[in-house]
Amino acid sequence: MEFIEVKPSDIDLIDKIYNNEIESFGIMGGADMWMIMSFIRYGKLYLLMNGDELLTVAQYQKIMGEESVFLYGFSTTPKNRNKGYGKELLQKVHIELKKLGIKKICLTVDPNNEIAIKMYKHLGYLIKEFQENEYGKGIHRFLMAKVLS
Ligand SMILES: CC(C)(COP(=O)(O)OP(=O)(O)OC[C@H]1O[C@@H](n2cnc3c(N)ncnc32)[C@H](O)[C@@H]1OP(=O)(O)O)[C@@H](O)C(=O)NCCC(=O)NCCS
Repeated sequence: MEFIEVKPSDIDLIDKIYNNEIESFGIMGGADMWMIMSFIRYGKLYLLMNGDELLTVAQYQKIMGEESVFLYGFSTTPKNRNKGYGKELLQKVHIELKKLGIKKICLTVDPNNEIAIKMYKHLGYLIKEFQENEYGKGIHRFLMAKVLS
């Protein structure tokens, strides 16, 4: 298994990331090609790969004026879920971001997404806020955050 930071020239990987966005998120919440390139060039986009197979994706934006990042998107390809890859990628990313001087990671999650909330809590993320109608009427979120120690 390989931990990768995606670069703009990784065209084949970027195709796989885009296809997984559609498969994992459908029309709501996934990143399009413009966003994916923006994470790669101006934030960070990390993957776990098994040979040519994409396992898990994490997309980060820097929060301006803070030593913090926002995890915009996180997903494991459907057939590779519940095998520990999500937790493994997050643990590797925590080490990497700490090396870059990042002190805090924020994210939002659907309050009904029990699997994701459980995973984030297991890795030290805390629920900070209930964000009512964050992504439109009736689309609420929990804001979660982890301080990198
Ligand atoms: C949430 C998601 C990223 C988890 O990735 P994953 O690689 O399957 O996660 P892991 O295998 O590392 O498991 C993480 C935890 O979730 C639990 N889990 C994973 N899949 C599960 C399932 N189908 N049912 C119950 N628990 C499950 C694991 O047991 C583990 O729990 P633990 O911390 O107590 O050991 C994945 O389900 C996914 O891509 N979902 C769709 C996109 C999404 O919701 N992303 C999060 C947006 S904020």
